Amino acid sequence: MGVELTGKVAVVTGGASGIGHATALAMSTAGARVAIADLSEAAGTALVGEIEARGGEALFVATDVARAAAVDALFDAVKARWGRLDCAFNNAGVADSSTNLADTSEDEWDRVNAINLKGVWLCLRREIRDMLAQGTGGAIVNTASVAGLVGWKSSSIYTATKHGVVGLTRGAALDYARQGIRVNAVCPGVIDTPMGAPATQSEGRVHDILLARHPAGRFGVAEEVARAVVWLCSDEASFTTGHALTVDGGYVVP
Ligand SMILES: NC(=O)c1ccc[n+]([C@@H]2O[C@H](COP(=O)([O-])OP(=O)(O)OC[C@H]3O[C@@H](n4cnc5c(N)ncnc54)[C@H](O)[C@@H]3O)[C@@H](O)[C@H]2O)c1
Repeated sequence: MGVELTGKVAVVTGGASGIGHATALAMSTAGARVAIADLSEAAGTALVGEIEARGGEALFVATDVARAAAVDALFDAVKARWGRLDCAFNNAGVADSSTNLADTSEDEWDRVNAINLKGVWLCLRREIRDMLAQGTGGAIVNTASVAGLVGWKSSSIYTATKHGVVGLTRGAALDYARQGIRVNAVCPGVIDTPMGAPATQSEGRVHDILLARHPAGRFGVAEEVARAVVWLCSDEASFTTGHALTVDGGYVVP
């Protein structure tokens, strides 16, 4: 028998594509009821249909994680539907424009920070408030990146947001360890998703350079990250908090 999330209610942001999509499916397979929050309504409702067709329970809530009112509406909808919150995967994120720092703009700084860092903070804050009110603890996982642990050339803004996600993870884990709320991060290497596609699905220099940084000799797939998230959300990980777990084929091995 695999890792169990039976009876738990989970929220996945950025759940309509890539890592979030695979994780919503994996959480449902593990027995959770799953709310999928994303900007993409068509893909999100399609995933709800897929989960329901397999006998699971799911809900789609159109959400921009960069907006506090939208984040509150998401968790209000989850409470209205299922009356509780046990697990959350704060995963919505965007790439930056892959330029060197001197060529980046204030607009880009604001846009990428609003989604990748403020969005995670907004979700964390509301999840922790709901879990504290419930009084039964909970498990939260944030998506950072290998770029949350080491530098990533021509991507200073993205790198700064992902280091920030690791910082938020550690701070929140310390604040709520006593209340049984565990907060961890996953740090994926390059994963074959729509975001990773410019590296994984291309041929040439960028593909080769990035592939060479993965000692496993390949890029990852979304299901490999999903399995780590399901484990971190499960009671199997009951003494693990504040950890930034690499899922990277060895990318950041010291
Ligand atoms: N793919 C990789 O190589 C890789 C590596 C490390 C970390 N990550 C991180 O993993 C996470 C998921 O990436 P992915 O590869 O699955 O990408 P993806 O583009 O396939 O999926 C991202 C999802 O987030 C949603 N989203 C974007 N902005 C949003 C917003 N403001 N509010 C709500 N939803 C929003 C998108 O609509 C999309 O469905 C991101 O945080 C990304 O930074 C990805």
